[in-house]
Amino acid sequence: MTPSDGGKSIQPRIVVLISGSGTNLQALIDSATAADYPGRIVGVGSNRPDAGGLERAQRAGIETFVIDHTQYDNRESFDAALIRKLEKLTPDLVVLAGFMRILTDDLVRYFRGRLINIHPSILPNYQGLKTHARALEAGDTVHGTSVHFVTEELDGGPIIAQAEVPVLENDTDQTLGARVQAREHVLYPIIVRWFCEGRINLGPDDEVLFDGEPIPAILTLPADVYQ
Ligand code: GAR
Repeated sequence: MTPSDGGKSIQPRIVVLISGSGTNLQALIDSATAADYPGRIVGVGSNRPDAGGLERAQRAGIETFVIDHTQYDNRESFDAALIRKLEKLTPDLVVLAGFMRILTDDLVRYFRGRLINIHPSILPNYQGLKTHARALEAGDTVHGTSVHFVTEELDGGPIIAQAEVPVLENDTDQTLGARVQAREHVLYPIIVRWFCEGRINLGPDDEVLFDGEPIPAILTLPADVYQ
């Protein structure tokens, strides 16, 4: 994934899409400041003009753009505009980091294998919204987060990695959500880094490849990584 250009290596180009405060985006920005970081965040886009994450990107000197979904008649025309904008940024990887939009099949197919998402549950549990509240309501003792390739099925693409957290007795959806996000802020940058290093790919049959081999099980990171 680091093709050479006359001996000069070209870094994979990352575009991050957000809708909200962008704490995951911040974790990605922070990790990309490492001297040996194998990629470059070349753009941050939002469907909401007021997304707090846009300021985080601007502070880091990253180009931002807004494609306001309320200005489009339907999902297809919004996604067509998003594809046009993304095409201009020529991303090797599009990272969804709290981008709260259902994507059309056209967009998903266009970026197949270079579109990943983080979802705050142990998929396939709790696709969709309000995942922390639903885990609490169900009386789960374990909750967590998943990073997956995006395919046509909502929150259903091939899972790359997961991180679990315990559900504690007095948890509210806020306290549980904060514990999940702390995991996300470690896990997502590592997966993005591995993708940029060419270690993670989507195979032809929608299998997740790690170092060229199908993963035998969803990846989990050793506990000390999160300390
Ligand atoms: C994250 O917890 C992410 O898992 C979730 O939105 C949050 C964004 O927070 N994504 C989804 O629910 C996607 N279905 P952030 O803006 O602080 O990074």
